[in-house]
Amino acid sequence: MARKKITVVGAGFVGATLAQRLAELELGDVVLVDIPQTEGMPAGKALDIMESGPIYGYDSRVTGATSYEPTRGSELVVITAGIPRKPGMSRDDLLNTNAGIVRQVTESVVRVSPDAILIVVSNPLDAMCLVALRASKFPKHRVIGMAGVLDSARMRSFIAEALQVSVENVHAMVLGGHGDTMVPLPRFSTVSGIPITELLSKDKIEAINRRTRDGGAEIVNLLKTGSAYYAPSASVAEMVESILKDKNKVLPCAAYLEGEYGVDGVYLGVPAKLGARGVVEVLQLNLSVEERIELQKSAAAVKESCQVLGAAARSS
Ligand code: NAI
Ligand code: 2OP
Repeated sequence: MARKKITVVGAGFVGATLAQRLAELELGDVVLVDIPQTEGMPAGKALDIMESGPIYGYDSRVTGATSYEPTRGSELVVITAGIPRKPGMSRDDLLNTNAGIVRQVTESVVRVSPDAILIVVSNPLDAMCLVALRASKFPKHRVIGMAGVLDSARMRSFIAEALQVSVENVHAMVLGGHGDTMVPLPRFSTVSGIPITELLSKDKIEAINRRTRDGGAEIVNLLKTGSAYYAPSASVAEMVESILKDKNKVLPCAAYLEGEYGVDGVYLGVPAKLGARGVVEVLQLNLSVEERIELQKSAAAVKESCQVLGAAARSS
């Protein structure tokens, strides 16, 4: 049986590291795509990853391209294309620039892979998911955003560190938009089934919540030249695996909401079952009034970004 084809658009830090992880997990053959100006860069990185195969024992083919024909017939496409924020740029500059990139990439991808499932990674994540949904004209269950797995993994790391337990025993749930308004949920975060609210003081939990919200910025401040990519690529790989192996893992992902959690018409991080058709189901947690209010605030912030985009599109 032929291996599945997975395309990763954007052969930068997240994209190339993801290609490596997907190959190591033998989830399929990987095509790594970037813009024509990058010339041999995606092919060079792809070859380098493939030449690790004999050592790690994987047979996945990894190829690079600067056009979309080699991606034809992909089952799954991950979009990591975009620019990071540079000095002097406003958030809205990033929003509009990356929206243009994500729109163009999505249109190019769906032309040759009309049945693919799209996972969006480019920032600002929740708004970029909406751009990809609209540009693809795909049903909502086939356009998903990655952020919650990453934010929850960060929270899991901090909980494990605080309690000196294995990360394998820790589950965490972070919902909402991928930004300052994200909503860590301690009541739904557990160590071997025990809610952390029974194991840690309020102050310690609040410190963990804060560090989780600032998790992306903490890495940027250390790296100085870019943002995180090891944990982000690992997070996407978990989503890809759940989809391609039809595992139905419940993972926090950005999903298009139509009334769930009282939110309508935007992408927001919620627990979703991921299987062969993409988002199989959005799970509704029984949130407290406070948790619900925080989620509503986060949805409002995402809506605001989407409105900025809408206004820019109308004026151009
Ligand atoms: P990077 O700058 O290393 O890579 C981006 C790549 O996209 C570059 O190689 C660039 O040439 C390429 N690109 C730009 N325009 C393109 C186009 N039209 N078609 C194809 N490729 C194009 O950036 P990095 O670190 O890989 O991050 C990528 C994106 O992912 C950023 O927007 C970043 O903010 C976002 N991100 C999101 C996370 C999340 O949790 N959702 C986590 C980490 C990063
Ligand atoms: C992060 O959270 C940059 O969104 C990215 O690390």
